[in-house]
Amino acid sequence: MTLSHHQFSEIAAQFGTPTYVYHAETISKQYQLLTAAFVDQPVKIFYACKALTNVSILNHFKSLDANIDCSSINEVKLALYAGFPVEKVLYTSNGIGFDEIEEARALGVTINVDSLSNLKKFGEKYGRSYPIGVRFRPNIMAGGNLKIATGHDKSKFGIPIDQLEELLAIVQQYDLCINGLHIHTGSEIKDVDVFVKGIEVLFDIIPYFKELTYIDLGGGFKVAYKKGDAVTDIPLLAKKVGEAFANHPNPNGKPLEIWFEPGKYLVSEAGYFLTEVSVLKQTKNILFASVNSGFNHLIRPMFYESYHHITNISNPTGVEKNYAVVGNICETDTFAWDRKLNEIREGDLLVMANAGAYGFEMSSQYNSRFQPAEVLVKDGQYHLIRKRSDFEDLLRNQIILP
Ligand code: LLP
Repeated sequence: MTLSHHQFSEIAAQFGTPTYVYHAETISKQYQLLTAAFVDQPVKIFYACKALTNVSILNHFKSLDANIDCSSINEVKLALYAGFPVEKVLYTSNGIGFDEIEEARALGVTINVDSLSNLKKFGEKYGRSYPIGVRFRPNIMAGGNLKIATGHDKSKFGIPIDQLEELLAIVQQYDLCINGLHIHTGSEIKDVDVFVKGIEVLFDIIPYFKELTYIDLGGGFKVAYKKGDAVTDIPLLAKKVGEAFANHPNPNGKPLEIWFEPGKYLVSEAGYFLTEVSVLKQTKNILFASVNSGFNHLIRPMFYESYHHITNISNPTGVEKNYAVVGNICETDTFAWDRKLNEIREGDLLVMANAGAYGFEMSSQYNSRFQPAEVLVKDGQYHLIRKRSDFEDLLRNQIILP
């Protein structure tokens, strides 16, 4: 853990629990590892902000001079609100109505279109007046599990590579300026050859697009959830990507920029979820430790069966026992089914790791529970960057009929 037990205890005392805690220096470190690996190549890193959109986190990325990848028009607006210049904002759309593309166009950000239907509408309205990127579906199966695999041949994402001809017909009909090609095959891809395979698919079609400036290879780098977990080998990826592009110079002119859109790699390990044990329940076979949270706050274990390392920071030398760590939601709600942890007492603080990406961001008020607070630790200082929600928030936007 990059924060000490003492720091977590202080944060719990100061801001209460449950609370998401982010470590700014870990985010910086991850960003720098990535940029350093690609320093010799025309690579740009776009933070996939769907992982964590708190504006203070976006500001931190801005201070690192990162670019930003958005998956909705509201993320685009948050990025602009945080002060990212339009040139650094990318909107990779998916399944959206054309009105959102029009908005993105009006805001002046870079757009990757992911359907023939929207490409056609774009052509009808804007012709070649505004360059646009296209997201392809490379028909490659990859990713940690089926729910987070996006590039395979049954996936809704992108324009299937087998529809290239139809796409080219639209480009020709409206004289479109296609300036980028995009693929994103999935999340938690540890095998760098998957990226190379994706690049090879793109090399076959690059010659059809004479005005390209960038190739966007998406995100999806695998991070470690447990000690010794295999992760995407970033230096190896950089080497292979460099070789692939060196062997395939752009037939249409100057070298293409290579873009990546990592989310998890940049923020997963920088985030922790800090909870408190409300009740212990010993049953015949299982000892339950129920925390003051649930899948309404961190859905990943229930939704993806993802592993989040748990530490009992209140009793780190206690005798180890096996626990089911559960939440207080009124349905099966388990963070860890059978986990060896230092002895837990009611009131102990449990810290869940890898909570920076898709943690708070996928949280809800289910069971009418408040959403957690968020705290950013930067230069050793604790900054509250989101208040815990409250009863007013539960009522917000409701129109109470007389
Ligand atoms: N680019 C595109 C177009 C994406 O769809 C995604 C993630 C990313 C980049 C960033 O992927 P990353 O580097 O974070 O793996 N909620 C799931 C992950 C879903 C990812 C959706 N798209 C989870 O908690 O595992």
